[in-house]
Amino acid sequence: MSGFETVIYEKDGSVARLTLNRPQALNAFSVRMRDDLFEILSAIKTDDEVRAVVFKGAGDKAFCAGADLKEFLSAPSAVKARHIRSVRDLWRLFLSMPQPLIAALHGYVLGSGIEIALYCDLRLASPDAIFGFPEVTLGILPAAGGTQTLPRILGLSGALDMLLTGRRLNAQEAFLKGMVSRIVPREELLQKAEELAQNIASFDPVVVRNAKQALIHGLDMTLDQGLDLEWRLAAKIKEIRKSSKI
Ligand code: COA
Repeated sequence: MSGFETVIYEKDGSVARLTLNRPQALNAFSVRMRDDLFEILSAIKTDDEVRAVVFKGAGDKAFCAGADLKEFLSAPSAVKARHIRSVRDLWRLFLSMPQPLIAALHGYVLGSGIEIALYCDLRLASPDAIFGFPEVTLGILPAAGGTQTLPRILGLSGALDMLLTGRRLNAQEAFLKGMVSRIVPREELLQKAEELAQNIASFDPVVVRNAKQALIHGLDMTLDQGLDLEWRLAAKIKEIRKSSKI
C-alpha cells in the first residue's frame, strides 16, 4: 500500500507506522485524511503480520490541530459537512482495531487530533504537547467520539472541564489526569513509541489482542459480565493452544 495523499504508511515487520502528513496545515484532519486512514486501517485490521500500530504527526508543531477548518467551514452547511464526514465510519473502525494502537504525541493535539489519540491504547507525549477540544468555542460539537471517549479516560469531571470550557492541558497535566501514560523528551518520542510497539509485537499476538478486547469491551460491561468475558477469552486462548499442539 502506498501513495496516500495525507498519511504516510510504513510497515516494518510486525509494526505499522502511520504519519499524519499535512504539516503545512498542522496535520489538520480533512475528508481526504479520513479516507486515507480508513483505507489503511481497514487493511491493517485484517493483516495478521501487524502486531502493533504507531501513530504520529509530521512536522515540528503538531500531532494534529483538529478538523480542517478551512474545508469544514467552506462546506455548504455544517450539516452537510458532518454528513460528508459520516459516510465512512472511521471512528468505529478505530474502536474495532484488534492490534494495540500507540500514539506519539507532540505539539498541538486538538479536536479530531485528540480524538484520534483517545482511540489509541497507549499515549506517549513530549513535554511540548498541548491537548484540547476547541469545538465548544467554535460553536460545534465534537463528532469523532470525544464526548464518549474522553470521560472514559479522564472521568466525567475532567471531561466536562475540557469539553464545556475548551480548557487546554499541557503534557504534565494530561499525564497527571491519566490521559497520557508516559512523557518522553521530544527527541526520544518516536524512538520510545517504536520500542514500545516492538516490545508489544514480541509477545504472543493472540494474548495481546484478547487482553485488549477484554479491557476495551469489558469497560462497558458490568463487573459480572466483564468477568464472564475475561473467562471466555481465556478459555478461547486455551483452546487455540490445545488445537495448535495437536
Ligand atoms: N484547519 C486548517 N488549517 C489549519 C488548522 C486547522 N484546524 N490549524 C492550523 N491550520 C493552518 C493555518 O491556517 C496555517 O496555515 P497558513 O500558513 O496557510 O495560514 C498553518 O496551519 C499554521 O497554523 P498557524 O495558525 O499559523 O500556527 P500557530 O502556531 O500560530 O497556531 C494553533 C497554532 C493550533 C493555535 C492555530 O493554528 C489554531 O488555533 N488552529 C485551529 C485549531 C482548531 O480550532 N481546530 C479545530 C478543532 S474542531
